[in-house]
Amino acid sequence: TPQRPRLTVLGTGYLGATHAVSMAELGYDVLGVDVDEAKIGKLADGQVPFHEPGLDELLQRNLATGRLRFTTDYAEAARFGDVHFVCVGTPQKKGSLAADLRYVEAAVVSVVKNIHGRALIVGKSTVPVGTAEWVEELIAKHAPEHAEIEVAWNPEFLREGFAVEDTLRPDRLVFGVKTEWAKEMLDKTYRGVYELAAAEDREVPVVVTDFATAELVKVSANSFLATKISFINAMSEVCEAAGADVTQLARAIGYDLRIGNRFLRAGVGFGGGCLPKDIRAFRARAEELGVGAALNFLSEVDEINLRRRQRVVDLAAELVGGSLAGKQVAVLGAAFKPNSDDVRDSPALAVARKVHDAGASVVVYDPEGNENARRDLPEVSYAASLDEAAKGAEVVLVLTEWEEFRHADPVALADVVNATRIVDGRNCLDPELWRAANWEYRGLGRP
Ligand code: UDX
Repeated sequence: TPQRPRLTVLGTGYLGATHAVSMAELGYDVLGVDVDEAKIGKLADGQVPFHEPGLDELLQRNLATGRLRFTTDYAEAARFGDVHFVCVGTPQKKGSLAADLRYVEAAVVSVVKNIHGRALIVGKSTVPVGTAEWVEELIAKHAPEHAEIEVAWNPEFLREGFAVEDTLRPDRLVFGVKTEWAKEMLDKTYRGVYELAAAEDREVPVVVTDFATAELVKVSANSFLATKISFINAMSEVCEAAGADVTQLARAIGYDLRIGNRFLRAGVGFGGGCLPKDIRAFRARAEELGVGAALNFLSEVDEINLRRRQRVVDLAAELVGGSLAGKQVAVLGAAFKPNSDDVRDSPALAVARKVHDAGASVVVYDPEGNENARRDLPEVSYAASLDEAAKGAEVVLVLTEWEEFRHADPVALADVVNATRIVDGRNCLDPELWRAANWEYRGLGRP
């Protein structure tokens, strides 16, 4: 086996593109593969098809060294790679909670049918527990007889906005393996990550385990994070009824190290391409396994999260005198979180849609997400700046905590709007400051 395995990354979406670029940056020869020709064309041309701070520069640098290439040809990938990372999407199935594995199947089959030597297929996509075993069956069915192909599961925990950092400096690595060879190949593959850590006097914990545990680590981590957010948002509901302040409550409980202060920001809730679909797919899988009751709380987590969206709409209606019909509403934010242009399952966009459905005329502004948002919600207007969105508004809704919004000047903005009313859907503004500038301010879970 080679000391420095050659890597392919199957699927060049968020996860795959970041992984391919980061591994090349660590010195590996990497081939990115996707069925989407337009995407591959862009990447090969040095353009990242989504917004991720720092990724463009790294992509260009590694294309220039020749370590990183892109192709749509799976046969080429099969010839090139010692290790094939499966990074395709696993979206929510239409009309069901479960994950759709068709892209995993297509990627695995396309590559393994062309493999003639020895190779390791490494699953990174978030999948229902049991998928790695199923991938082994796919391989047995589709690979040439003489090929020696093994499977490993190696979940990915990267956050959008910190994707490169999380890949180069992970909190931990998880290897789900069946053989010593698979473990050795993964060690060789991640030697670059180990060396970087050693150079910085850090250690990267590696958990070596079985397939099922590795698969479950990922969904259980995301479920815990989602639960933490919904917990504080549930407290938010109680605070609203009791006249308490959830931001101070979060601060106070967060000082207890057993609880910790991270992921306790109350607001309009979680969205994105991972947490919402992952907790739903996990529930569906638990049902199949006959342990649905163990994860019933996740449907509660989901519902608390969705209720927050309605709460913002209700607050906005209250501020404008009861009905949003015919009112002009500025929506600041469309991405599911700042430093991202991702609008998948975005609370901001869901609120914009509800406000539009309530008969308001909605103007959305997001520093990076306008373009993607327009595709998902073409019924509303989009502005090119904060001021343009706020112009003539009866109420302003802050739904993604971009720096630009957190540092907006309430005095200057007061001159632009029609009425100084604001709902802070992320508790990211200083209420004192806004009230001092004569704004009627409402936060979530705050008096
Ligand atoms: C998440 C996980 O963090 C990551 O480990 C996994 O690999 C993929 O899913 P990501 O989707 O990029 O990453 O976003 P994250 O930063 O976790 O935020 C998720 C959502 O939760 C955002 O909509 C964010 O606004 C919201 N959130 C986060 C809160 O509402 N409150 C918080 O305290 C933290």
